[in-house]
Parts: sequence; C-alpha cells; structure tokens
Amino acid sequence: MGKPDFAIDFGTANTRVVSSSGGVLFDEPSLCCFTGQADRGELVAAGSAVRSMLDRTSGSMRVVRPLNRGVLSDIAAARDYLTYAVRSSVGQRRLRSFRAIIGVPADATNAERSALFTAANDAGLGSVQLLAEPLVAALGADLPIELPRGTMIVECGAGTTEAAVLSLGGICAAASLRGGGDALDLAISDYLHFRHKFLIGASTAEQAKRDLVKMLHEGVDAGVDIRIKGRNLATGLPAAIGIPVGDLHPVVEKHVAGIAAMVVNLLGQIPPELSRDIHDGGIVLTGGSAAIGLVSRAVADATGLTVTVADNHAHCVALGLQKALAH
Ligand SMILES: Nc1ncnc2c1ncn2[C@@H]1O[C@H](COP(=O)(O)OP(=O)(O)OP(=O)(O)O)[C@@H](O)[C@H]1O
Ligand SMILES: [Mg+2]
Repeated sequence: MGKPDFAIDFGTANTRVVSSSGGVLFDEPSLCCFTGQADRGELVAAGSAVRSMLDRTSGSMRVVRPLNRGVLSDIAAARDYLTYAVRSSVGQRRLRSFRAIIGVPADATNAERSALFTAANDAGLGSVQLLAEPLVAALGADLPIELPRGTMIVECGAGTTEAAVLSLGGICAAASLRGGGDALDLAISDYLHFRHKFLIGASTAEQAKRDLVKMLHEGVDAGVDIRIKGRNLATGLPAAIGIPVGDLHPVVEKHVAGIAAMVVNLLGQIPPELSRDIHDGGIVLTGGSAAIGLVSRAVADATGLTVTVADNHAHCVALGLQKALAH
C-alpha cells in the first residue's frame, strides 16, 4: 500500500477521520438512519443528524449502529456510514483512489477484520490497512512506545475496553472486554427497569451516566437525587423519577471492578522486566470512558500503581492515527 490519504477511528459510538496535514476532518456519532425493508433499506441520514432520532423514529425508519462492541455488526450500514464519513471529509470526489488506515480492536478476529475490509472496499476505499487501537492510542497519548521499555495503556471506549503492554513499537501482551461505556449505560437502564419498573431509552441512559459520574467525581452527598425521565411501567405513563446517587453508585462500582480485574489479570502475564517498567511508569487511560473517574481509582486501588488519564483522552486514537499517517 502507498502512503495513506487519511485514517479513520471507526468507533462504536463515534467516528473520526484525520489527515496528516488537515487534522480532524470529521467527528460524528457512528449512527445511520435507514428507511424501507431491513435488508434493502435506503440511507436517509447519518452521523450527527441521527443523534436525536435514536428511539424516536416513525414508520419504517430504523436507526442502526454499524458497530457493536467495537467490531462491525452490520456490513451494509458500515459501508454507507464510511461513504458518508469520507465524503464529508474530502468532498464528493471518487473514493476509489483513496488509501486509508482504520483502527481496530487488537483482538479483532480474522472474520471481523475481513468484514471491515469488505465494508471499506464497498464504500469505495481502494486500499485499507488496519492498525491495533491500543497501539495507536498509546501513540496519541505520547507514550514512548518505540523504546525498549514497557508502557501500559487502557483504552476505554463505548463498545470495548482494551488494555495493552507495549514495548519496541509493538504489543507485548493485551486483554480486552467487549464492553465499555455502553455496557454501563445498559447497567443503569437495567437497574431502573428491574428495581423501579421504569423504562428509559439509550440516550437518556447515557446522559444519566454522565450526570452520575460527574456527581460522584464531585463527591456529592449519596442522598442527592438524579432526575431521570422515561416511562413508568406500572402505569404506562410518561414520568420522571428521582434516584439517589448512592443507589446508583454500586452499579458504577461493579462496572469499574470488571475493568480493574482485567488489568490485574494482564499484569500477571507479563515478563518481570516489563513489570518493573510499569511499576516505574504507571498506567495511562485513554478513550471517552476514561472520563469516568472511578475507573482510574479502581485500577489504582487494585494494582497499587500510578494511573493517569491522558490529555485529550477521547481523541488519543485519532491523534495516534494522525501520527501514524505522518510516518
Ligand atoms: N464525560 C463523560 N462521562 C462518562 N462517560 C463519557 C463521558 N464522555 C464520553 N463518555 C463515554 O465515552 C464513550 C465514547 O468514547 P469513545 O468515543 O472513545 O468510544 P468509541 O471509540 O466510539 O468506542 P469503541 O472504541 O469502544 O468502539 C461513550 O460510552 C460515552 O458515553
Ligand atoms: Mg474507540
């Protein structure tokens, strides 16, 4: 493959397109809205325009996410979304001549990689190279990954949480959870459903999560309520409910405990010289879900290591891709 023209951080929740010279060309939610039959739908909108349509469509309209848990779940939606993202980035020129780098989870299977190649080729991208996201995130976080010294990163996305130990420009050991911020949204929805017989949509769950982690970070009193709107299942009526922060705190704790356990497990599998390096350098968190302060605290408590959140953590994969393009 010749020099790539641009790179794509194709995420479960957000997609960014970057070029080596123009910076971030595109940054929108990974959402498509189709109308018509499930197998032969027509794209009516994509990206930011679809955000407010989630759970609010009428007739035969459907909102689809091309990716689920970090990997492609709908090839047709991925093709249409990639076409939209690239056209928005570079204009209406033919895509066939373009070469692109796309980030993928380090543990994506061959079938998952091949589905992504197919979608990208169908979208008209002539040649595509896949790069492991934890490596790219580390590059974006300015970690010295080329040196003969171990560094550790945890990329906390919406659909995946990936931990990796890197040295000499490669991944020495990695582990992942096929779950990220989305899983916490779902855990909050489930809690309200089962404990309070109260139904909420995906966007409301995500907003409730953001409010909750902010309040926990600020150390508000456990008795302070978060107000959430949705449908009361007992009456079937639209309603608002107040849930004390202290009641939702264990839901977040359970989620972050899973991440901390994955990190501890990975640290138990690396050679001792790398353990020594990580003892000195600590662990760096990247990705949108690194904004959840309880993640860094849980990982620090479980490992006894210094845990820092990278500057511009939500954009580290995009920034790393930009650096990869410039090489
Ligand atoms: N302030 C915040 N508080 C809590 N969560 C946040 C905050 N900001 C973003 N997030 C979460 O970060 C996630 C999005 O992060 P990111 O853009 O890194 O994911 P992605 O790249 O689309 O997903 P993936 O890499 O897993 O495929 C969402 O789950 C979102 O709710
Ligand atoms: Mg991501």
